[in-house]
Amino acid sequence: MTIEKIRELIGKMTLEEKASLCSGEDFWHTKAIERLGIPAAMLTDGPHGLRKQDGRGDHLGLGDSIKAVCFPAGCATAASFDRELIEKMGETIGNECQAEGVAVILGPAVNIKRSPLCGRNFEYYSEDPLVASEMAGALIKGVQSKNVGTSIKHFLANNQEHRRMSSSSEVDERTLREIYLAAFEGAVKKQKPWSVMAAYNKINGVFAPENKTYLTDVLRSEWGFDGYVVSDWGAVNDRVLGLEAGLDLEMPSTKGVNDKLSVEAIKEGQLEEKYLDLACERMLDVLYRYIENRDPEAVFDREMDHEFAKKVAEECIVLLKNDGILPLKKSANIAFIGKYAKQPRYQGGGSSHINAAKITSAMDAVEHRNNILYAQGFDDKADVVDEVLLAEAVEAAGKAEVAVIFAGLPDAFECEGYDRSHMRLPGCQNTLIHAVCEVQENVVIVLHNGSPVEMPWIKKVKGVIECYLGGEAVGSAQVDILFGDVNPSGKLPESFPIKLQDNSSYLYFGGEGDIVEYREGVFVGYRYYDKKEIEVLFPFGHGLSYTEFEYSDLKLDKEQMKDTENLRVSVIVKNTGAMKGKEVVQLYVGCEGGSIIRPLKELRGFEKLELMPGESKEVTFTLDKRAFAYWNTTLHDWHVETGAYKIMVGRSSRDIVLEQEIQVDSTVKVPRVYSYASTIGDIMADPDKAGIISGLMSNMGGRREAAAEVPQQNDAISPEMVQAMMQGMSLRNILTFTGMPKEVFDNLIIELNK
Ligand code: BGC
Repeated sequence: MTIEKIRELIGKMTLEEKASLCSGEDFWHTKAIERLGIPAAMLTDGPHGLRKQDGRGDHLGLGDSIKAVCFPAGCATAASFDRELIEKMGETIGNECQAEGVAVILGPAVNIKRSPLCGRNFEYYSEDPLVASEMAGALIKGVQSKNVGTSIKHFLANNQEHRRMSSSSEVDERTLREIYLAAFEGAVKKQKPWSVMAAYNKINGVFAPENKTYLTDVLRSEWGFDGYVVSDWGAVNDRVLGLEAGLDLEMPSTKGVNDKLSVEAIKEGQLEEKYLDLACERMLDVLYRYIENRDPEAVFDREMDHEFAKKVAEECIVLLKNDGILPLKKSANIAFIGKYAKQPRYQGGGSSHINAAKITSAMDAVEHRNNILYAQGFDDKADVVDEVLLAEAVEAAGKAEVAVIFAGLPDAFECEGYDRSHMRLPGCQNTLIHAVCEVQENVVIVLHNGSPVEMPWIKKVKGVIECYLGGEAVGSAQVDILFGDVNPSGKLPESFPIKLQDNSSYLYFGGEGDIVEYREGVFVGYRYYDKKEIEVLFPFGHGLSYTEFEYSDLKLDKEQMKDTENLRVSVIVKNTGAMKGKEVVQLYVGCEGGSIIRPLKELRGFEKLELMPGESKEVTFTLDKRAFAYWNTTLHDWHVETGAYKIMVGRSSRDIVLEQEIQVDSTVKVPRVYSYASTIGDIMADPDKAGIISGLMSNMGGRREAAAEVPQQNDAISPEMVQAMMQGMSLRNILTFTGMPKEVFDNLIIELNK
């Protein structure tokens, strides 16, 4: 519907009707205005499938929803690093939405995995904002190509479940820009989600749904967002403030209570009606994008989508360790041990929970074979060792040639609403793994978890595959990977620390009361581990294959550039092994030296490519200003410091294969204000002002000799020491130490600030 028509429609509405349009009818629907022929629309959770509730709704995944297909969760899809695949998953879900009459699916969820402990990490993508926003963008693109909306969430800085409704994420400007906003930015700018969901928490003291800085200034004015902002379910604190800040839709229904408040505020002159009109405009615009593009042909084919869920799961599995044990021989006698071999953990708990139509476990997938034994091994409802299950498992492992243990975090460990308290697997599973390793030297671990776990047995086992929460078809994908019918190609979208205490947010995660300080700043994940040279269990970007890839011919199309230019980087990757495989080529940029405290490297590009044995392909990346920039808090903008930057290409953040340097020159000058507190060093470092200060230094002449406090070279003080001390002196120091006339300095400061 055109904007003119929409405005015409709004012109016919009463104030009460306008207010009613901006809040839910019930848990999942917006309100219809029958008098004007405006229909209601349904919003439904996702994002890795449909959680469409028929009857009374809830936002915690408690009640039933229709049978649907559970695709791999965000944690897993990020590991695919495959934009095309995730776009296709989006198309599939979009089609399901069309078939089921769903106008907007609530996701993707892109919050940064700041700590391994966040209860909703399984829904989130990565510790890195580029991965998060690219993968989210791919899903948005796919869903919206079917004329169904997405609602990217939870905007903003919602990185823990503990006190999620009341806590304030205290984050500095640069960190917000470089990490937490950046996770949304690329997806919003490039893929234009129809909706953004405002989070429960506060950002620096202001509730997200009434935070004008982010909902209007950043989201709309800077990024060009043109859909509607919906509150997370029950997140509205002050409806009137929210409308003014840019919150369009309140969900779920407040039974008219908040609609009344909006109407009163307008009548009493506390809120300008234009804010409500604008919210209605956005609501109707998004509504008619869907209503006018219904697909009557769409069919939700659960069987077909299940097969596709398997395909997605295959691409998400990460081979973490392989001492030559994988792929397994199909003829070998193998013991599948662990409850998750029969009942995989394939999704997390809470609002994203899908009522899966069909679940394929690894045991289902090998049911036609007679050389695979099964033993349950542990009870995932309890942490205590079940001696009978343990004994059976050890016996099965002892009889087999290989033991594959299906381990992971139980449902209760990963759920919306609360965080994990530690990073360990349940004790009974660790005991089982150690016990099996006593009787069997060929042990492979298959993991099911939404974020990192400690692996105290890592040296004893020969193989580890990380499946994350791989969706309802994960079992068949696991079997295909274990036996080499599919070559693993996932990479870790997050670092696996050795222990929780190594994580940079460890001291502050969870916060004190409602204050959660993000004191680690931009040093999240590998940005921290790399800078501190902390050993990790598995680094960001890590993932093995059954084949080998060789990197060569890293080329930059220039040696020096201005920050307004683009850099073209190319590299050749060759499959030197015997099996077809896929590699995720990662490009990092780093700047050593310079005056800004920065990570050693940051991911600025990735491409997944498939190569036949012996085949080579060239991969190219185009880097713009942003690849070299940090957020400058004087400019309140992205800024590139002049200097040498390293372009690093590799298999993971800790396996950089090729690197080259490029000189990047800034075209922007950061304005500086000089005062008596300015140091000689800072003034000398400013090429436009250095001359002025050298003039002063030579004028000091005899006075300099007389001023004992001004450093002088002698037997105990070297010229370097004199220079270092001088650099740190301020104009005020020079004034007091030398006794030069104050007017000289007053004029000098005027001159410096010209
Ligand atoms: C969650 C959202 C979800 C909504 C609706 C909230 O509790 O935070 O992610 O979309 O409920 O179920």
